Amino acid sequence: MGKKGFHIAVVGATGAVGTEMMNLLEERKFPVASLHPLASERSLGKYLQWKGTEIGVEVLDKNSFKGIDIAFFSAGGGVSKEFVPHAVSSGALVIDNTSAFRTDPKIPLVVPEVNPHRIADAKKGLIIANPNCSTIQMVVVLKALSGLSPIKRVVVSTYQSVSGAGMKAMEELSKQSAALFAQKEMKIEKFPHRIAFNCIPHIDVFEEDGYTKEERKMINETVKIMEQPIAVTATTVRVPVFYGHSESVNVEFASEVTPEAARQVLKTAAGVMLCDDPSKNLYPMATMAAGTDPIYVGRIRKDSTVPFGLNLWIVADNIRKGAALNAVQIAEQWIQSL
Ligand code: A2P
Repeated sequence: MGKKGFHIAVVGATGAVGTEMMNLLEERKFPVASLHPLASERSLGKYLQWKGTEIGVEVLDKNSFKGIDIAFFSAGGGVSKEFVPHAVSSGALVIDNTSAFRTDPKIPLVVPEVNPHRIADAKKGLIIANPNCSTIQMVVVLKALSGLSPIKRVVVSTYQSVSGAGMKAMEELSKQSAALFAQKEMKIEKFPHRIAFNCIPHIDVFEEDGYTKEERKMINETVKIMEQPIAVTATTVRVPVFYGHSESVNVEFASEVTPEAARQVLKTAAGVMLCDDPSKNLYPMATMAAGTDPIYVGRIRKDSTVPFGLNLWIVADNIRKGAALNAVQIAEQWIQSL
C-alpha cells in the first residue's frame, strides 16, 4: 500500500448504518486523511462525533466527490442511483450498501470471507456492492460448510430487527411500545402494521409471484456471492428487536455432513463464533450479537427428513457485519490490493 491516508465520504452519515461506518473507521484505525459525512438538507447544521471532536455534516450534491478516494453509500437505492455515477466519474471507489447495483453482473458483490477475489477486480472509479444484511450472515456460514460437501438447497426464515429499516424504524418500535404501555394511540408509519409485540412477514415490497424483494435478494445474492447454483428459498420476517438478525437455516448437502464435522469447521471459520451447547442453554441470540462483530452459529443438528441435511440458527448484528463492518472490511482489503 503506497498511500498513507484516504479521503473518505460517507453518504447517509446521519443514518443507522452511516453512523456505525464512522465508528468502525475510527475503531479499526482505517487510514483516513479526511472524512466527509454527507446527508440530506435536513441534516444541515448537524455535527457528528469523529475521533474525539465534532465534524459538520455536508449536504450531498453532485460535486461532493472531488478528491474523494473511497465513497461509502448508505442512503437508500434512489440516492445511490442518482449520486454513485458522480462519485465514480470523480475517480472514487464506491462501496454501495443499497440494492441499486447488487444484481448487475459487472459489479462485484462481496463478502470478504466468501469471495475476496472479487475485491481486487475493482479499480478506482468503480463500484463494489455490499450485500443485503440477511444474506451476508448466512453466506459466511454456508461458505465454511460448503468445504465439507457442495450445498444443493437452502431453506431460510429470518427474524429481522427494526434497525435494518433505519433510525425512524427504531423510533417507531420505541414509541409504539411506550404508547401501548400507556394505553395511548400509536402511529404506524415505517412498517405496514404495528411492529411492537408483533411479527410482520413482509420486508420490502411484494413481487408478482408472492415473494418479497427482501426474499428475492437473499435468493439471488446467495448464488452470486457463492458462485454456486444453490437453490434458495426464503421467508423474511420483521420482529420487534432493535439490533441483530436471527435466521433459521436448513441446508441440504450433496453428501453426508455430520453436526460434529460442521461444528469443527465453524469453530475456526473466519468471522464466525460457534455458540452451540444446549446443555448450558447456550445458543446465539440477538442480545448476544448486538454491538459485536462475529456471526454466531448454534442449534446445529441433523435434519433426517432429507438424505444429507442440517439445521442451523445464525445470528449477527445487522448494522455491523450485516452492513457497516462488511463495507469497511471490503475497503480494508481493497487498500491492501493497491
Ligand atoms: P438525513 O438524516 O439528512 O435524512 P436511515 O437508514 O437510518 O433512515 O438513514 C438514511 C440516511 O440517508 C440518513 O443519513 C439520511 O440523511 C440519508 N438520506 C436520505 N435521503 C437522502 C438524500 N436525498 N440525500 C442525501 N442523504 C439522504
